[in-house]
Order: sequence, then structure tokens, then C-alpha cells
Amino acid sequence: MPALAPHIACIMDGNGRWAKRRGLPRTAGHTAGEEALATVVREAAHRNVGWLTVFGFSTENWVRPPSEVRHILGLHRKLFGRIDELNANNVRVRWIGRPFDEPGSRTPAPIQKAIRDAIRDTSTNTGMVLTVAFDYGSRAEIARAARLAALETASSADAASNGAHVSPAAIARHLYDPNLPPVDVLVRTSGETRISNFLLWQARHARVYFTDAAWPDFGADELDAALALVS
Ligand code: IPE
Ligand code: IPE
Ligand code: MG
Repeated sequence: MPALAPHIACIMDGNGRWAKRRGLPRTAGHTAGEEALATVVREAAHRNVGWLTVFGFSTENWVRPPSEVRHILGLHRKLFGRIDELNANNVRVRWIGRPFDEPGSRTPAPIQKAIRDAIRDTSTNTGMVLTVAFDYGSRAEIARAARLAALETASSADAASNGAHVSPAAIARHLYDPNLPPVDVLVRTSGETRISNFLLWQARHARVYFTDAAWPDFGADELDAALALVS
């Protein structure tokens, strides 16, 4: 069945290789990737996309060289700072990732602030929802949701106290963003065909669109090809 306002989720890969092919530093690839994302957000908002979720930075990505991590963090500040553009396109920003107050959280305060500000300053928009996954890992998300669901089950009067009756619906209620709808199309760029711990729960029925294009080259035509899977 065609999705009316589909949810497209993108694993934005290949920034480093894009730069290397041009004899540029990897950071230039990330800069180009952030610009490509701004274009994709605009193009998606002008089509019938309801939800666009992008993998910006994984919990595993912290092991990259500090200078590269710093550069990527700066680009997230830039991305979350595009408030005027987002408002002009009626886009509402959301974020999923390890909660800032959780042990192991490494998100620097200025990025936390940029995320909070973007969410607040776009909250009244009624068009596409852009969700950025930052310091995100899907298994940790599901494990945490299961833990919270078990606590909820244990504390309700008539339920078993061992968490044995935790239902999928109860887990879904405790994901980082319980309102994130099922993914209709999962995109991965740059010729890789891995899922890499992205939205394992939400993408269970998703179509998958793999493309050889590196993320900085992902544009309107590629978006249309991905959308064709659900139209
Ligand atoms: C994706 O591009 C961006 C992030 C993971 C932050 P990569 O940096 O993984 O690019 P490649 O895979 O090395 O080409
Ligand atoms: C996945 O890309 C994470 C993001 C796009 C942010 P990676 O390039 O880090 O993925 P793997 O680990 O090579 O699969
Ligand atoms: Mg990669």
C-alpha cells in the first residue's frame, strides 16, 4: 500500500570516500554531507514526505580521530542552527540518541543546547518531521526501553513483578521517541549494505534502498528513486 506521508530513514554514509576521491580531507566530505542533508530536507519537505530520520552520529563513531569528531560535532551545531530554513520549510526538528543524563553520555553542552533550541524553535511547525539520530545506537535504545517497560510492569498492581509479561507495545512506548512511526524506506548510501545498528525496531517492515552514490551526492533524483519504492 502506498504510504501517504512516508517515513524515510537515511544512513548517510560515504562522506570520507567522497572526499578522498577528490583529494580532500575527510572533514571536507562531512561538510559536503551536511550541505547535501540541507538540500534533502528541503526537497523532502516539498514532496509528500512526512518523516525524515537521519543517522548523524552513532554511539560507535566517538572512536574516530578527535579532530574528525570535533568537525562532525561542529556540523551538527550548524545543522541544528538552520532554524530559519527549517521554519521556512515548515519542518519540525526532533532528536533521538542516548539521553544526556545517562552514564556514558558524551554529548558536549553546546551541542545539547543546539539540539534543545532547534526542537523548541521549530516545535510549532506542522509539516515534515526531521529526526536527527545523534549519539544513537539501536540496541541500547531497545535495551533501555525494555528495562523501563519491565519497571512499569513491575510497578503496576496486578502484573507479574519479573518483567516476563513485557509486551512489544510496552517496549515501543519507551523508545527514545515513541511517536516515531514505522520506517517505510530505509536508505543507505555509498554502496554499503549494512544496517549498522540503526532503527532496528522501527524499520522492521521497511523497504530498503541501497545506492552507490556517496551521501554528498545524494540529491532529489536519489530521493525520488527511494520514494518510488512506496508510491
Ligand atoms: C558517514 O560518512 C558520516 C558518519 C558516519 C559520521 P563516513 O565518514 O562513514 O564515510 P566513509 O564511510 O569513511 O566513506
Ligand atoms: C553509520 O555509518 C553511522 C552513521 C551514518 C552516522 P558508519 O560508516 O559509522 O557505519 P559502519 O560502522 O561502517 O557500518
Ligand atoms: Mg562510513
